[in-house]
Amino acid sequence: MDRAQEQALYVPLTLQVNGRSVTLHVAPWRLLADVLRDDLGLTGLKVACGSGECGSCTVLVDGEAIRSCMMLAPQAHGRTLLTIEGLAAGERLHPLQRAFIEHFAVQCGYCIPGMIMAAKALLDRQPRPTADAVNQALCGNLCRCTGYVYIVDAVLAAARELAGPEDAA
Ligand code: FES
Ligand code: FES
Repeated sequence: MDRAQEQALYVPLTLQVNGRSVTLHVAPWRLLADVLRDDLGLTGLKVACGSGECGSCTVLVDGEAIRSCMMLAPQAHGRTLLTIEGLAAGERLHPLQRAFIEHFAVQCGYCIPGMIMAAKALLDRQPRPTADAVNQALCGNLCRCTGYVYIVDAVLAAARELAGPEDAA
């Protein structure tokens, strides 16, 4: 298949990404991870395993944490996406991002965007999770560096900041 034949197969793809509407044309076999990184420049998500095993490519699709290396880009048509780039408000980091720094939960950093997005999905549906719930929510996100303890501490600290003190509930 030459380039022109390939382009004839492209499909339109409209997404809301980090609050912005984006329309592009993509080959139907392209992965969402590749379109986000290569076409939209959203390189925060990482493609480590490329086979759905590690969670480093996690983004939110309609609020649900998904592995963008396992989703075809056209499957995201018409949906609302949030990537790590959409979390901060200008210069102000999201409480999860701040907590990961303050709790020394980042070493090489490669897994961290996926961890934070999986944690965001958890806190959106369960604002006051237990440590067990955090472990459960992040069990598909692999980290080769940290040993996970500080990561869980960071998520719990961000939850406390976002949800406020227990007796205010
Ligand atoms: S790169 Fe997607 S799960 Fe590992
Ligand atoms: S901080 Fe290095 S893989 Fe998690």
